Amino acid sequence: MNSYCIQDFLDELKLKPFESLHQFWRELDNKYPPQKVKELERAYAKLEENDEASFYEAIFADFDLALTFSRLRIDLYKATTDWLCAVLGETMPKHILDAGCGNGILTCYLAKVFPKARVTGIDISEAGIEQARKLAEQLSLTNITFEVGDIKDYSFVKADTNDDTIKFDLILTVAALEVTSPFLIKQLHRLNRHLDDNGIMLNFEKISNPQIQKFFVQALDESNLQPDLEKSGWLKYENADGDEINLPAFASYKKADKKPVSSEILQSFLLTESNLLSELDLSFKQEALCELLFNQLNPKELIRAYKADFHDGSGTYNFEQWQSGPFALLYEHTDQGYRNLRIKPLYLACDFSSIFDQWLEQTANYADLEQIK
Ligand SMILES: C[S@@+](CC[C@H](N)C(=O)[O-])C[C@H]1O[C@@H](n2cnc3c(N)ncnc32)[C@H](O)[C@@H]1O
Repeated sequence: MNSYCIQDFLDELKLKPFESLHQFWRELDNKYPPQKVKELERAYAKLEENDEASFYEAIFADFDLALTFSRLRIDLYKATTDWLCAVLGETMPKHILDAGCGNGILTCYLAKVFPKARVTGIDISEAGIEQARKLAEQLSLTNITFEVGDIKDYSFVKADTNDDTIKFDLILTVAALEVTSPFLIKQLHRLNRHLDDNGIMLNFEKISNPQIQKFFVQALDESNLQPDLEKSGWLKYENADGDEINLPAFASYKKADKKPVSSEILQSFLLTESNLLSELDLSFKQEALCELLFNQLNPKELIRAYKADFHDGSGTYNFEQWQSGPFALLYEHTDQGYRNLRIKPLYLACDFSSIFDQWLEQTANYADLEQIK
């Protein structure tokens, strides 16, 4: 990945965020005749009624209007691309698909950031694809192709063959999948079919309540995709109304022989940001509460445990990692009455594993260690 960031891209296109939705409508009032603005207002109202197709047809009708609308989504683009950069690290994808690319803002950004990659954008809206092609032309991009197509049955056929085997090592969808419809599985299935064996799929979709989130995770599973929760995350951005939105974004791989993600781990990931499941650290002077709470958390399973017998004869120390439903526990107790309990959502249990390793390394200097489990 080169050092070109989303802000450089927005500056190049002279795209500045609006301060408010009001400012957006005022700008439209200044640019377009009243009848056109009325039409757009009606289309915008349809968005609230979940009639996205009519809205996008109206917005994508003209290049400048589509870009003006994109300025309402700048914070979302930033959140998405920050996450994408964190997930990819030094990885350089060679074939990238942006499915449901709209007017191609993120697609063109990817083509800029990965100049050696072949980037494809598809969208069901012909008007959207027309504006996306104009954007790529304006940016003089030569490594990008846009095609009209429906995600759920689109075939990426290699030129000059009937071979439906184009594989992408990065597939991105942003607010493009039919997350509340049974078509979701078809869409994810189709995308998975075009995902390279070592490829990664990134979905940042409007899955805004626990029911839809559960449905989405099930659909990933049924489409033979497996989320990697360390790479997945909760993204925050400000929407056009100035509300702070917080949504899960999933990074997934083709299900191979990887160990399946347990339902408790998924539950812990999905519940964390809704603040239903937070972290707890009970330590010094809260011994009684630590012990009480630890004993109340049932059923629980011991994952890893060591006992340290101090060389100076000052007693024994137990360090234990447990799992209870969607919680990971780190419990320390000594024969002198010291107790310490830390609780985290299960998908963050890897943090406890590294704390455990550090403790082992340090304690080995002044105690005999016995592995209990
Ligand atoms: C909210 S826009 C997002 C566009 C783009 N991903 C972005 O973030 O700027 C949703 C896009 O998905 C497209 N779309 C909806 N259903 C689709 C489908 N079944 N196949 C392809 N594109 C679809 C719409 O036409 C629209 O352009």
